[in-house]
Amino acid sequence: MVQAQSQYWRDVLAKVANNSSQKRPFFSMAPMEAVTDTVFRRVVAKAGGPDVYYTEFTNAASMVHPKAKFSVQGRLAVAPGEQQPIAQLWGSKPEELEGAAKLLPDMGYQAVDLNMGCPDGTVVKNSAGSDLIRHPDTAVALIRATKKAGLPVSVKTRLGFYKPEEFRDWLPIIFKEQVEVLTIHLRSRKEMSKVPAHYEYIDEIIAMRDELAPNTLLQLNGDIKNFEHGMELYHEHPGVDGIMIGRGVLEDPYAFNQTESTHSLQDSIQLLKLQLDLFDEVNTAKLPKHFEALKRYFKIYLRGFPHAAQLRQALMDTHSTAEVRELLAQHAEALELA
Ligand SMILES: Cc1cc2nc3c(=O)[nH]c(=O)nc-3n(C[C@H](O)[C@H](O)[C@H](O)COP(=O)(O)O)c2cc1C
Repeated sequence: MVQAQSQYWRDVLAKVANNSSQKRPFFSMAPMEAVTDTVFRRVVAKAGGPDVYYTEFTNAASMVHPKAKFSVQGRLAVAPGEQQPIAQLWGSKPEELEGAAKLLPDMGYQAVDLNMGCPDGTVVKNSAGSDLIRHPDTAVALIRATKKAGLPVSVKTRLGFYKPEEFRDWLPIIFKEQVEVLTIHLRSRKEMSKVPAHYEYIDEIIAMRDELAPNTLLQLNGDIKNFEHGMELYHEHPGVDGIMIGRGVLEDPYAFNQTESTHSLQDSIQLLKLQLDLFDEVNTAKLPKHFEALKRYFKIYLRGFPHAAQLRQALMDTHSTAEVRELLAQHAEALELA
C-alpha cells in the first residue's frame, strides 16, 4: 500500500477510504483547457463529482509577469465554498515555475501539478508540455524549482514523445524525483488521442514505481469513461492509486457517480441551468467570458434524449444566457413530457 508523502495527499486518501463502501482509488477530473474552470467544476460537483479537481493549465511565465498576470487570473479563480482544485502549471523556466508556485498558497491552493504532456504546437515550441519528455534535464530542474515553493508537487505526462515505449527511459527520471503523484496519459505525444490508450503497459509502470518511488501515487489517464470503468481497471491493476477522467465527463456529467443511477432529462436541464447561472456569476467586466464557449456544453446535458434534439439545435443559434433560458422556458412543457 503506497503511503502519500504530504498531508494534502494523505487527506485525499483518508477521505476516500472513509467515505467509500469498497476499497477504491481516488478519482479526479482531468485538467482541461477552456473546460475545467470554476463554472464547470461546480456543475460536475453538483452532478456528483470526483475526489480531486484540477484547474485548466496555466502559464507560469504569465503568472510572474507583471503585465501578463491579468490574462491568467480567470483560470485560477475558485469560488467561495468550492472544493479547492489543484493548480496545474506549465512552463519551461525553473525560476518562473518557482515564482508562480510561490503565488499559489495565497490564492488558497494546497497542491500544484506540472504539465509535461501537452501536445499543443505552441506549448511544445515554448519547450514546455510534452516537449519536456525530450528534455528530461529541464523536466527535473522544473520539478526541483517548483518544490521550493513548499507545496506538494505532482506531474502529469505522457508515455513518450514519439513512441509509447519511451516510457521505459522517461518515467524512471520522474519517479526518481519522488513527486507526490505521477499521472500518466497512456499515449505518446505523437499518438495525440488517435489510438487507444496503452493499458498493456500499466503493470510494468506499477513495478517501476514500486522499485523507484514506492511513495509516489500512480494515477492512470486515457479513455476511462466513468467510475465503473475506472474500477474495472483498478481491479485488474490494484497497484494503481488514482483514476483521472477527462472526456468521459464531457459525454456524461454524471461519470463520477459510484452507483449506476438513471438521470432524467429534467436533471440534466437543471445542470444546464446551473451552468448558465454560474457563467453569469463569473462573467464580469473584469473577467469576461465568451458565450460561444458555452455551446459545447449544450450537447453534454441534452445528449441521449431523443426529444431534446430539436432544442439542442435551437440552442446552437442563441447569443446569450438570457436567450438560452427563454428557449428552455418555451420548451418547458414539451420537455416535461419527454
Ligand atoms: C478540451 C481538452 C483540454 C485539455 N486541456 C488540458 C490541460 O489544460 N492540461 C492537461 O494536462 N491536459 C489537458 N487535456 C488532456 C486531458 O487532461 C487528458 O489527459 C486527455 O483528455 C486524456 O484523458 P481522457 O481520455 O479521459 O479524456 C485536455 C484535453 C481536452 C479534451
